[in-house]
Amino acid sequence: MNKHEIIEKNIGLMALLMVFAVSIGGLTQIVPLFFQKETTQPVEGLKPYTALQLEGRDIYIKEGCVSCHSQMVRPFRAETERYGHYSVAGESVYDHPFLWGSKRTGPDLARVGGRYSDDWHRAHLYNPRNVVPESKMPAYPWLVENKLDGQDTATKMKALHAVGVPYTQEDMAGARDAVKGKTEMDALVAYLQVLGTSLKSKR
Ligand code: HEC
Repeated sequence: MNKHEIIEKNIGLMALLMVFAVSIGGLTQIVPLFFQKETTQPVEGLKPYTALQLEGRDIYIKEGCVSCHSQMVRPFRAETERYGHYSVAGESVYDHPFLWGSKRTGPDLARVGGRYSDDWHRAHLYNPRNVVPESKMPAYPWLVENKLDGQDTATKMKALHAVGVPYTQEDMAGARDAVKGKTEMDALVAYLQVLGTSLKSKR
């Protein structure tokens, strides 16, 4: 029996060797990323989300926006001409978890901040057909009714602080008042308006 036959006839051994072979490929690609400045350092001018923007991000997650919208401009000409500078890793270091997504039923939103007015976003989220007649994006009318109480905002900031987002004691102390009484719409629009702006302002 030659050596290869031994492996082929022993499924346990084969599985073990397969895991070993695959992990070499994985490790050589993934491990260096933990040590590269480009992927671990924030881009210049990147600020942690404000209390209101942070709540907006959670609403973005809750409402499933990520299932139709990516936040990742790829480095291809067709993309950069449409959306602006391609996304770099340093823009996402304060995002836990990141929302790059992969499904694009709607346009990429990585650089949507500042592209439209707050009023446009409000009208659009209330009912997309108000501003884009052919749109097939769902309407989110309840966002203007649901009010935030800000009860968990400081706790969320504390959790993010624990994984390296530079929130100060002051940020956390003021979080509740910054959010309380605002609507989900206020928060979501505040979040959308900051997306991708750190790199924009640098250029
Ligand atoms: C079922 C898929 C779907 C979901 C879910 C969805 N969208 Fe959309 N979105 C679209 C489509 C399609 C468009 C393009 C037509 C339009 O502008 O309405 C769009 C457009 C947009 C635009 C305009 C982007 C641009 O550059 O013109 C924004 C901003 C946006 N969506 C935000 C959101 C947010 C925030 C949510 C979650 C509350 C959300 N979308 C959920 C499909 C979706």
